[in-house]
Amino acid sequence: MPDQERLLSLQQVSKNFGGVQAVKNLSFDVNSNEIVGLIGPNGSGKSTTVNLISGAVPPSSGDIIWRSQNVNKLPISQRVPLGLARTFQTTSLLAEYSVLDQVLTACHTSYRVSPWRSVLRMKDARAQDEEQVEKARELVEFVGLGEVTNDLTSTISSAQQRLLMIATAMAADPKLILLDEPAAGMVAKERKELANVIKRIRERGLAVLVIEHHMGLIMEVCERIVVLNFGEKIAQGKPEEIQRDSAVIEAYLGGVH
Ligand SMILES: Nc1ncnc2c1ncn2[C@@H]1O[C@H](COP(=O)(O)OP(=O)(O)OP(=O)(O)O)[C@@H](O)[C@H]1O
Ligand SMILES: [Mg+2]
Repeated sequence: MPDQERLLSLQQVSKNFGGVQAVKNLSFDVNSNEIVGLIGPNGSGKSTTVNLISGAVPPSSGDIIWRSQNVNKLPISQRVPLGLARTFQTTSLLAEYSVLDQVLTACHTSYRVSPWRSVLRMKDARAQDEEQVEKARELVEFVGLGEVTNDLTSTISSAQQRLLMIATAMAADPKLILLDEPAAGMVAKERKELANVIKRIRERGLAVLVIEHHMGLIMEVCERIVVLNFGEKIAQGKPEEIQRDSAVIEAYLGGVH
């Protein structure tokens, strides 16, 4: 594919929590402008992998490479400006904020103008503020929440809250967005809308790493899927390859018995 860059590379990454090996020798890449799925049964290490990539927890061993730079030791606050953003498996919104303000807060966090410059040149600062409001408004509409722009985040539906988390993550202008179970609690129609949002995120030039239990959504949006079982990668490939992979079928059916 033209103009594709390797954004993220996990190289033999492991994470132990006491005696629990949550992730074992995991290696995979995410390229720019690509939608990659990360799937696996409950407890297989998906959220831990996202925590490792975003910087919430350090790896026990192995390397996390972001655009040729080893980021093992960088905290979340230093990874976000490099272009890594995430949403959480559980919603974490500011209840007393409006939908627009929630996104605006995240826009301000990524604000590049020095605060001194803003204080000294009020007019300039006001113009910058308007720019941020415009940006937040565009993101709210982008995820399909235009109609609830001024509603409190606590009063919108849980599906809308999940979309709001995506808009909030996008406010930091990431190159890769990590989505941990964005469809949790959604009904079929809402999942369809979410699938469209994820595809349109890619059309904006971003890469997406999505964790999901809803196979329909994963198979529809992902170009490549990485499958974990007990912390290990057991398969990687295109959706149609994963669907007929015997190790994957065994891992999922095994969980049913
Ligand atoms: N902070 C932690 N301390 C101790 N053990 C942990 C911690 N985080 C995760 N684990 C353990 O690591 C393993 C992998 O958990 P993880 O949350 O990454 O799985 P998951 O694939 O996201 O599961 P789910 O589909 O249920 O969300 C589990 O055995 C879990 O109990
Ligand atoms: Mg999880």
